[in-house]
Amino acid sequence: VLAGGSTPRRAYELATDADWSGATLWFGDERCVPPTDERSNFAMAERALLARLATPPGTVHRIAGELGAEAAADSYENLLESAPPFDLVLLGIGPDAHTASLFPGKPAVLERDRLAVAVPEAGLEPLVERVTLTVTALANAREVMFLAAGTDKTGPVRRSFARDRAEQTPAAIVAEAAEAAGAEVTVVLDRDAAAGL
Ligand code: 6PG
Repeated sequence: VLAGGSTPRRAYELATDADWSGATLWFGDERCVPPTDERSNFAMAERALLARLATPPGTVHRIAGELGAEAAADSYENLLESAPPFDLVLLGIGPDAHTASLFPGKPAVLERDRLAVAVPEAGLEPLVERVTLTVTALANAREVMFLAAGTDKTGPVRRSFARDRAEQTPAAIVAEAAEAAGAEVTVVLDRDAAAGL
């Protein structure tokens, strides 16, 4: 499961020398824009990874955000229902400690029965409708890996991963649910993002 945003871009570029031909790719969330739109998480992965691969992944399940959030979430959920546990879920963390498109205080964070839901109001730019995997879907993995870099992530990383944290951010909720489901949770940080731990 690939993360969107900008942090993973360099990681995807560095991973283009691996053999992805046997991989099945999913996306943790998507903006409801065309797949060629610069705000699209698929477009970022396409530019940084997919378009650079000599042999493409076996299967790429793109979230069809251009269908609109509800329709895209419903069709993605149908795919997810027959999916095995994920080998690796990559996630970023926002300045508000959101992850995927699970924004603090929004209903999607509380959803546990569905696997993918519409997010009519994003909590941060780009303020377009989103589709997001739910905590339940993201936790269904062998490994969950958060990637964060930069000083704007010092606070959200501390709030989400410090042992003495006082709150449950969406990133913390996903990490705890994943651990409770038996997944290994890894947090990969640069020095700035780790400064608050
Ligand atoms: C999205 C992403 C989101 C991202 C964080 C961090 O659609 O916005 O999936 O969850 O991982 O917002 O984004 P940056 O890596 O750009 O800081």
